[in-house]
Amino acid sequence: MRMVELIQKKRNGLVLSPEEIRFIIRGYVQGSIPDYQMSALTMAIYYKGMTAEETAELTMAMAQSGDQVELSFPGKTFVDKHSSGGVGDKTTLIVGPMVAACGVPVAKMSGRGLGHTGGTIDKLSSIPGFQVEMKQKDFLEQVNRIGLSVTAQTGNLVPADKKLYALRDVTATVDSIPLIASSIMSKKIASGARGIVLDVKYGSGAFTGSLKEAKILAKTMVRIGRNLGRETVAILSNMDQPLGKAVGNSLEVLEAVNSLQGNGPADLMEVSYELASWMLVLGKKAKTRDEARKILEENVEKGRAWQKFLEFVEAQGGNTAAVANKQFTLAPIRLEVKAEKNGFIHNQDARVIGICAMNLGAGRETKESSIDLGAGICLEKKSGDYVRKGETVFELYTSNAEKAGLVADLLKTAVRIKDQPVSHKPIVAQVILK
Ligand code: URA
Repeated sequence: MRMVELIQKKRNGLVLSPEEIRFIIRGYVQGSIPDYQMSALTMAIYYKGMTAEETAELTMAMAQSGDQVELSFPGKTFVDKHSSGGVGDKTTLIVGPMVAACGVPVAKMSGRGLGHTGGTIDKLSSIPGFQVEMKQKDFLEQVNRIGLSVTAQTGNLVPADKKLYALRDVTATVDSIPLIASSIMSKKIASGARGIVLDVKYGSGAFTGSLKEAKILAKTMVRIGRNLGRETVAILSNMDQPLGKAVGNSLEVLEAVNSLQGNGPADLMEVSYELASWMLVLGKKAKTRDEARKILEENVEKGRAWQKFLEFVEAQGGNTAAVANKQFTLAPIRLEVKAEKNGFIHNQDARVIGICAMNLGAGRETKESSIDLGAGICLEKKSGDYVRKGETVFELYTSNAEKAGLVADLLKTAVRIKDQPVSHKPIVAQVILK
């Protein structure tokens, strides 16, 4: 088999066989297929798509490209969640402790930022001392002990996705349904989750712009999960504007801390409760989503979810005093973007805000770029709010004086202010169970 012929086959819109898909993944992981050929293939997939069978095969080939974790906790169903990627999405930091505090173990493998979206691992790295890379043995020991652990894709877990994820990020091939589905599901399958809750985003800041595309992605992943004997549920949530009010690593951890203490923004809490409720249902702690929600709300009110977060930070070497005292280092240059007229905020374009945050230093422009953990954007107003001319809409944090002004100008284009009030749309549009 020759890679160039397989690229040509996909480029011409033909279907790759299971053997061809396995040959590609094996060759890429071993290094006999170079990045430039893989880039050409991912671009061909981007344009020509994949059948359900090809996507399922790609998922399994990726999941089996390295070690696979076998998780079993006597009498407990271990669950996992994953987001298809958004701006300001810090739900893992909130949902993980919430669910673990209710007695359902959560062991999660997370990624770094991708394109204009953030990644949980980068966010956790902004906690002083926090170890994001764990040995498999420690990862498992910690879930058994405290019910929660989060690790980067270390060692030999899904090496195919580790390489592909970074490559797609810099070759404009992230927003392809088969590539997103196989990337997410291969990680969930290799990390051994029995129950999987997916947050599939749609809207300007998501990789799937329309609700229709997000539904196809959600159904593709639910089908893959269920065919492999994992209970899988997907929610479809809106990403036209960032989730919550903070975008950028340290800023988002700070917002997660406030949320766990009961002071989270409404949209962020709504998505977090929805995800956590389904995790409790799959984890057999509640029969219905509504019953689960009551249990979760009580755990947050009683401070148990917050205590679980501190326990988790401590277990992974993080400085709990710094977290409890909210001592996060924010970037030194601050700039405010003001409203140019009176009116209601109709939208704050999540994609533009994500790109602005990346330019301020909060995300990576290339595979090798480093990140400024203290950089980011605070949304002082959200869609639906009334704003007066001259009031602050965004606050920017950066260490890059050259970019600050340019980004502030670009941010002005992200917000639409109109005279009419905004009609309310639910943030969670649908739940896909089958
Ligand atoms: N999250 C992933 O893990 N992979 C993708 O491709 C997109 C979002």
